[in-house]
Amino acid sequence: MAQVPVNVTVTGAAGQIGYALLFRIASGQLLGPDTPVKLRLLEIPQAVKAAEGTAMELDDCAFPLLKGIDIFDDARQAFDGVNIALLVGARPRTKGMERGDLLEANGGIFKPQGEAINAGAADDVRVLVVGNPANTNALIAQAHAPDVPAERFTAMTRLDHNRALTQLAKKLGVDVTEIKKMTIWGNHSATQYPDIFHAEVNGTTGAKAVNDEAWVRDEFIPTVAKRGAAIIEARGASSAASAANAAIDHVYDWVNGTPEGDWTSAAIPSDGSYGVPEGLISSFPVVSRGGRWEIVPDLEIDAFSRERIDASVQELSEEREAVRKLGLL
Ligand code: NAD
Ligand code: LMR
Repeated sequence: MAQVPVNVTVTGAAGQIGYALLFRIASGQLLGPDTPVKLRLLEIPQAVKAAEGTAMELDDCAFPLLKGIDIFDDARQAFDGVNIALLVGARPRTKGMERGDLLEANGGIFKPQGEAINAGAADDVRVLVVGNPANTNALIAQAHAPDVPAERFTAMTRLDHNRALTQLAKKLGVDVTEIKKMTIWGNHSATQYPDIFHAEVNGTTGAKAVNDEAWVRDEFIPTVAKRGAAIIEARGASSAASAANAAIDHVYDWVNGTPEGDWTSAAIPSDGSYGVPEGLISSFPVVSRGGRWEIVPDLEIDAFSRERIDASVQELSEEREAVRKLGLL
């Protein structure tokens, strides 16, 4: 019997990440080579025409797994029956905008989208927020979808994870496949903490293999944490193909499971592990089993790591407080 297509809703579909993402979803890289998909694209009215252009190109690829494309400027329609929701569209920070203004502007997007997911999503819906500030946008959407299990709302730190893998591999002169158990903790922001103390490289830890604390502190951590800004500086636009790639990795692993003997990083609702206040959507070392993310338990956290995890989590707590004050939670 032919498999029922999975409904994948992508917001901000006409944006740069959308353009890098949609073709990969339609080719089977999001869910696997045996899973047909239907795309539901959400855009603001002014960008619907551009989304239609992308849909024409998707048609022109004749992807065997792509079973339909619908375009909407209405969230309720776009999320009706959604199984996988990729919330990419967000309000970028513009000149003179304070952090509070940005949170408020994004509240205007993620509150109605959370409500729409609550109203119409399929029972198995999984949500990945990419649009920044991703962790707190995910929290806002989750707060307005009380009928959806809270754990289904996640935010993307897989791009940071992949960046960290490559930086460490280059430093050690090894292949990225030789590095396991990298971790990003905290917020997808410059306060994030990429942690190589638990990473494994050919039988030793990442930290021991590097054996250079100054490099970890002064080069590795800032390079990974500020990579987004460095790309904006170099490209004149924020990362797009690498962000789309990370979104594909996140959802693929969530649905299909992480490989044995390794873990990855994702921002998921805290259960209080590692001193992260319950409910904050914070990045952890995670495995995916049976379609659910689980936080890797019982890692030893030394003072160097503790200080950095706490700083990023503090920023997340402040963002939560700010959106609470705006009445968005
Ligand atoms: P972009 O400006 O090229 O595209 C954004 C699109 O979203 C636009 O087409 C816009 O019309 C649309 N949009 C705006 N409001 C919308 C709404 N309410 N509903 C539906 N669509 C809406 O931006 P981009 O480069 O594609 O980046 C998108 C977001 O992803 C940004 O917030 C960016 O900062 C973020 N980002 C996150 C990561 C991460 O690792 N988490 C990495 C890179 C970029
Ligand atoms: C990134 O990490 O590349 C982006 O989140 C940067 C940005 O601000 O869009």
